[in-house]
Amino acid sequence: MAQTGEHLLLLCLLLLSSRDGRGQGDEDNEFLHLPWGRPEPRLSVANCPRDCSCSQEGVVDCGGVDLKAFPVDLPEFTNHLSLQNNQIEEIPPEELSRLYKLETLNLQNNRLTSNGLPEDLFEHLENLNYLYLANNKLTLAPKFLPNTLVSADLAANYLTKIYGLTFGQKPELRSVYLHNNKLADAGLPDQMFNGSDNVEILIMSSNFLKYVPKNLPPKLYKLHLKNNRLEKIPKGAFMHLTDLRELYLQNNCLTNEGMDNETFWKLSSLEYLDMSSNNLTHIPSGLPRNIVLLHLEKNAIKTIATDVLTQIRQLEYLLLHNNKLKAKGIHPDAFLGLKKLHTVHMYNNMLERVPSGLPRRVKTLMLLHNQITGIYKNDFATTYYLEELNLSYNKITSSEIHREAFRKLRLLKSLDLSGNNLKTLPWALPKNLEILKLKENEISSIPKGSLTGMAKLKEFYLSNNKLKINSVYTRAWSELSGLQLLDLSGNQLSHIPADLPESLEYLYLQNNKITTVPENSFDATPNIKGIFLRFNALIAGAVKDNAFRKLRKLQVLDIEGNFEFSKKAASSEEAEEDEEEKDEDYQET
Ligand SMILES: *[C@@H]1O[C@H](CO)[C@@H](O)[C@H](O)[C@H]1NC(C)=O
Ligand SMILES: *[C@@H]1O[C@H](CO)[C@@H](O)[C@H](O)[C@H]1NC(C)=O
Ligand SMILES: *[C@@H]1O[C@H](CO)[C@@H](O)[C@H](O)[C@H]1NC(C)=O
Ligand SMILES: *[C@@H]1O[C@H](CO)[C@@H](O)[C@H](O)[C@H]1NC(C)=O
Repeated sequence: MAQTGEHLLLLCLLLLSSRDGRGQGDEDNEFLHLPWGRPEPRLSVANCPRDCSCSQEGVVDCGGVDLKAFPVDLPEFTNHLSLQNNQIEEIPPEELSRLYKLETLNLQNNRLTSNGLPEDLFEHLENLNYLYLANNKLTLAPKFLPNTLVSADLAANYLTKIYGLTFGQKPELRSVYLHNNKLADAGLPDQMFNGSDNVEILIMSSNFLKYVPKNLPPKLYKLHLKNNRLEKIPKGAFMHLTDLRELYLQNNCLTNEGMDNETFWKLSSLEYLDMSSNNLTHIPSGLPRNIVLLHLEKNAIKTIATDVLTQIRQLEYLLLHNNKLKAKGIHPDAFLGLKKLHTVHMYNNMLERVPSGLPRRVKTLMLLHNQITGIYKNDFATTYYLEELNLSYNKITSSEIHREAFRKLRLLKSLDLSGNNLKTLPWALPKNLEILKLKENEISSIPKGSLTGMAKLKEFYLSNNKLKINSVYTRAWSELSGLQLLDLSGNQLSHIPADLPESLEYLYLQNNKITTVPENSFDATPNIKGIFLRFNALIAGAVKDNAFRKLRKLQVLDIEGNFEFSKKAASSEEAEEDEEEKDEDYQET
């Protein structure tokens, strides 16, 4: 018989609601698919509590119906019981033990206390696979849970204690969620997973642990211990975890003294290691070879020795931002042979120059917010694959950029030198750039030829510099035949720039000193979509409507904050005429 839409809908709701309230932490535990049958729908089931829905197949849904107490006389054949998002404080043992067929019990987001869960409460539930108790007020974990259990979620309670048979002796157990509790080391039994060798997911983030728990189950592939107080990883704690793929240790108090060169060595499946926000002063040695993503940001790392990274042959992402790295502290061979390493973040360090020996295959290099003063001839001589280079907010001056510094960067698409001390546009910029950011410098000149050949440039940011109309060589803009966005806001322009390329779509000119918009201003840019002229010195009447009328694609014309200056501008008209003449002279030459 065909399944009705209504029944499907109910299943979806059950699935959704049990996912929603799970733990209040930021851990994303995936939902385990429940073994629902494909039952024939019936209209009514005896003993279905008011406000709940029950199916003949044993699915009872009382989620979010404001229950103050555990419902009595539920159908005995109930196998999936949803009681999440209610206000239940306790569970009468006799009511629960009748439901010996229960496979799924969802009680998350109620007001259950440990007093409300008698010790032998779960003893008779010999079919229980899934138990959801997250978001309650439990202070002690249940002393005993059935050995049929597959997944247990006790996140976001006030747990201080776990017992030996809470999670022990459960050969089917696969996932345990304990994040957002108050567990300290003394609250864990000696062998928390004794006889539960198949646990794959263990989430204990946001507790008060000082040590990594001992005797972790051997088949773990996901272990989350972030936001604890970890100081030490006991010897051998990870020795047997050869299936572990994801290890979260961020936001703890780990120091290099709290681990040794064999701590991580045997984690041969480890792909994702996060030790950010700890107290490391150097990169631990003995990291395993299959790590793909290594988070070490927000520590106090000062040095990278020659042999701490080179064995991690699979490394692709290395995140070292917010540390104390100086270029001198990075060994020139530190990245040798890391052929897959394509993304390196070293922003917010103390680099006084570009480190030597950069990984040869790096594509994305983030060096912003350091103390770099110059770019020298060979800084990027071996990084042919670089596509994105961010050097913003350093102390680079125009005279300290070598004329050939960028010569090898044929693949570079995005270069950011904003927030430095540049006075002119750098020479010999990579020709294939698509995005160039030079905001917040002191650029007052764009020398002849410096934009030649940059036909791929799409976005050019020059805001907050010292550009005047005649700081830019004639026909500079029209060389940029692919340019779509030009940001010249916050400069000292007195006119709309001439020779804009036909491809231009957005032109930012706010906060300049532009006084007029002549009728032919945009004749060459029929594709323009946005023109921003806010806060200039435009005088009513000096803006020719016809300048915009022809622009079929124009969507935004922002011209606010201008005409109040009319009076002031009128009084200094003469001075401006002088300036105009000067500009015209320049343009003719
Ligand atoms: C571990 O389980 C075995 C039975 O499988 C038992 O004999 C032993 O005492 C348990 N150890 C601990 C520390 O609970
Ligand atoms: C890191 O170490 C410093 C100095 O030893 C100490 O003052 C600080 O509290 C430590 N921070 C953490 C998060 O352990
Ligand atoms: C760790 O260091 C010790 C002593 O320096 C050395 O004998 C051992 O081989 C090292 N282990 C690894 C995995 O590098
Ligand atoms: C450089 O990094 C800063 C900070 O993350 C970012 O705002 C900026 O857009 C980056 N530059 C480029 C060209 O992506």
